[in-house]
Amino acid sequence: MNSASKITVVGAGHVGMITAQKCAEKELAREVVLIDVLEGRPQGIALDLNQAAAVEGYGTRVVGTNDPAATADSDVVIVTAGKPRAPGMSRSDLLAVNGKIVEAVARYVRERSPDAIVIVVTNPLDPMTALMRAKLAFPARRVIGMAGVLDASRFSWFLAEKLGVSVVDVDAMVLGAHGDSMVPLPRASGVNGVSVTELLDKATITAIGERTKNGGAEIVNLLKTGSAFFAPASASVAMAKSILRDEKRLLPCTCLLNGEFGIEGVYVGVPAVLGRNGVEKIHEIPLDTEARIALQKTVGAIQKDVEALRQLGLM
Ligand code: LAC
Repeated sequence: MNSASKITVVGAGHVGMITAQKCAEKELAREVVLIDVLEGRPQGIALDLNQAAAVEGYGTRVVGTNDPAATADSDVVIVTAGKPRAPGMSRSDLLAVNGKIVEAVARYVRERSPDAIVIVVTNPLDPMTALMRAKLAFPARRVIGMAGVLDASRFSWFLAEKLGVSVVDVDAMVLGAHGDSMVPLPRASGVNGVSVTELLDKATITAIGERTKNGGAEIVNLLKTGSAFFAPASASVAMAKSILRDEKRLLPCTCLLNGEFGIEGVYVGVPAVLGRNGVEKIHEIPLDTEARIALQKTVGAIQKDVEALRQLGLM
């Protein structure tokens, strides 16, 4: 166990609840604080998780609270708070409502956990990460968005299903926004080092890429209320683990670009090394023309949302 570490999970909805559970079961920290504005819910979930500890054999203590004071001095803060999409909604439809939530969370994280590394999960992911950074005024390497790990995991699953191989042997890469303009990279995705471009025809790869882009919406439509929670929680915890254990995993994350890929001053999904300092390096993997154009397009979509945040007076 990272005996000195403390993780705060903001938002005790489905994603937050499962994130807290996974952090405890993996003993990523001495203490996991689950905070929500709803009275009773985080406390109830924390008690339930603590009552599971003897059976599961974890020593992590879970604290449920409505009080930001309990989050003080967190090493990692995972922000899942916000409204999920309803069927027919795009992630951008959540800008105003979730923007206010991010603003409120940033206020106490900045004050109480000034050294934390913050992982943003709230949608629309890329503009919410940019907003969080603006409100926190932390170094960009300490404010990171979770999307690429989730989108790449979805891509991996659909590829594994199509190829009839274990998903464990599939590696996938998805860049760009967590939205319709995301950029699955077939050339950088494969099975044990063999690119999927050599294993599947272009039409099939395109169809799987489209299903990946709609991976979240497909679940929203099936669930009718709420959106995906298991895979988003898994992805968030993988990032927190790489940070707290200084694993230096290369994961697609939403990072602030400073000229990488020819992009300046925009939060967008790119391959990044995550370690104890947060984003330790952005890997500028080679992109073909098609992927470069798609990345430019995705940047345009994110900038439009960031501009909408400005119009709303949030940024
Ligand atoms: C999804 C939501 C969490 O992709 O954005 O499922």
